[in-house]
Amino acid sequence: MNNVPQHIAIIMDGNGRWAKARHLPRLAGHREGANAVKRTIEAAAQQGIRFITLYAFSTENWSRPQDEINGLMDLLCKTLDSYTGEAQQKNYRLLVSGSRAKLPPTVLEKIDKAVQTTAQNTGLTVNLALNYGARQELVHAVNTLLAQGKSEISMDDISAHLYQPTVPDPELIIRTSGEERLSNFLLWQAAYSEFYFTPVLWPDFNAQELQKALDAYATRTRRFGGV
Ligand code: IPE
Ligand code: IPE
Ligand code: MG
Repeated sequence: MNNVPQHIAIIMDGNGRWAKARHLPRLAGHREGANAVKRTIEAAAQQGIRFITLYAFSTENWSRPQDEINGLMDLLCKTLDSYTGEAQQKNYRLLVSGSRAKLPPTVLEKIDKAVQTTAQNTGLTVNLALNYGARQELVHAVNTLLAQGKSEISMDDISAHLYQPTVPDPELIIRTSGEERLSNFLLWQAAYSEFYFTPVLWPDFNAQELQKALDAYATRTRRFGGV
C-alpha cells in the first residue's frame, strides 16, 4: 500500500484516563503522552509523511485546574529542551498553530527558539497546535482580512490567512481514546479529511497503531463529492 497521506493530524486524547487506570496523577499521563509524541513523530517520518499536526493544548483546556495547566506548560518546555536537538539532527521543522495570548513567556521563548532553529529544515514538518481553537483561527483570519480593507472574502483568502497557510489540509485525522469529536480542531481544514478513531489511549500510541490508521486510510475511497 503506497497511499500514504502527505499530512496527518492527531487529537492526542486519553492521557488522564491512562493515568487514572494506574492510580497515578494526571500529569504522569501527560508525561507518558510526551513520549508517545516522540515515538509518533519518528514513525511518521519513517512512513514518508510530510506534515504532522499534533493537538497539544486547546483554547478550552484553560478551563482545567491551574496545577494541571502549569504541569502541562512545564512539560512542554522540558520536551522542547530535550527534543529540539534531536529534531534538528533529523531535519524536522517545527511550526506552531494557535494564539500566543495567555501562553507564559517561558513557553513563548522556547517555541520561538525551536521554530527559529529548525526553520530551514526540509524533512517532516511538525505543526504543534498549542492554545489552538479552530473557531478562533477562522475569526483571526477574517479579522486580518478586514484589517486589510477587504469587503468581500473568498475561500482562498481564508485559507491564506489561517495560522499556518503553507500547511496543506490533512488527508487523515486521528483521535485516540475512543472519543469521536473534533473538539474545535481544524474545522476549515477538515472539510474533506478522513477520520480514524481508536480506543487506544494516547500514551499507548506507537508506530504499530499509526500503521493501523494508515492501513485504514489506504482502504478509503475519497470521492470529494464525485461518483
Ligand atoms: C489529552 O489528554 C491531553 C490534553 C488535552 C492536554 P486528556 O488530559 O484530555 O486525557 P483524558 O481525556 O482526561 O483521559
Ligand atoms: C482535545 O481533547 C484537545 C487536545 C487533545 C489537546 P480534550 O480532552 O480537551 O477534549 P474534550 O474536552 O474531551 O472534547
Ligand atoms: Mg481528553
